Amino acid sequence: MSGIVIAIDGPAGTGKSTVSREVARRLGLAYFDTGATYRVATVWCMREGVSFDNHSDVTAMIETMNVELILDPNNPRFTLEGEDVSAMIRTDEVALSVSRVATNLDARAALGRFQREVIAGERTGGFSGGKGIVAEGRDITTVIAPDAELRVLMTADDEVRVARRAGEGADVATVREAVLGRDKKDATVVNFQTAADGVVTLDTTDLTIDEAVNAVIALAHEVQS
Ligand code: DC
Repeated sequence: MSGIVIAIDGPAGTGKSTVSREVARRLGLAYFDTGATYRVATVWCMREGVSFDNHSDVTAMIETMNVELILDPNNPRFTLEGEDVSAMIRTDEVALSVSRVATNLDARAALGRFQREVIAGERTGGFSGGKGIVAEGRDITTVIAPDAELRVLMTADDEVRVARRAGEGADVATVREAVLGRDKKDATVVNFQTAADGVVTLDTTDLTIDEAVNAVIALAHEVQS
C-alpha cells in the first residue's frame, strides 16, 4: 500500500509548521517544510554571488544545487554541499531575500519538481519507510500535491497571526511587516489565502496547537477509513 500524503498550506502565523510537524510525529510520517527549500536556494545564490534579478541564473543554480533533506519531524535538517544550513536559513538576511526566489516563476518550477520527487519518495520508502509525509508550504495543496489524500488550508485572523509571531520575541511593527508584508509579496504568485476545491479550511484563530493537531489527525483518519 502506498503511504499517505498530507498537504498543509496557509499564511505565516497560522500554526502551519508547528501543527504539520506534530502531526507527522504522532503519525510516524516524514515532515517536509517546503519553504526551507526556498530558503536554502536563497543561501546558495547569495553565497555564489548570483543576482536575484537574473531569473535564469537563479533557476540554473537551483537545478544544480546539492541539497539534502532530513525529514525527521523530531529534528528536521537541511544540508547544502554537505554543510548543515538549518540555522542559517532562519536568519533575517535570508528571510528578507527569500521572496526574491519565491516570486521567480522558473525558480518555482525547478523547486516544485524537486519537492514532488521528495513527496513521491515517501509514498514508497524514504525517511518514513513508505508510511507517507506531511508537506507544508504555500502552494502545496494546489500546485505541488493536488493529489494528496488530505489537503488542509490553515487560516487565522491577521492580528492573531501577527500577535503569535510577536510572541516569539520580535517587536510588533517589524513582525507586522514580516507577516503581512511578505504575504502580500508571495500572494502575487501563489494563492494560499483561499481554499481550492477539495481543500479543507481549518481556522486556527481560536484553537490551541493541540486542538489544531487533533483536528488534522481526525481528518487524516477520515480519509484513510
Ligand atoms: O514558510 P517560509 O517562511 O519558510 O517560506 C519561505 C518563503 O518561501 C516565503 O517567501 C514563502 C515561500 N514559499 C513558497 O512560495 N511556496 C512554498 N511552497 C513554500 C514557501
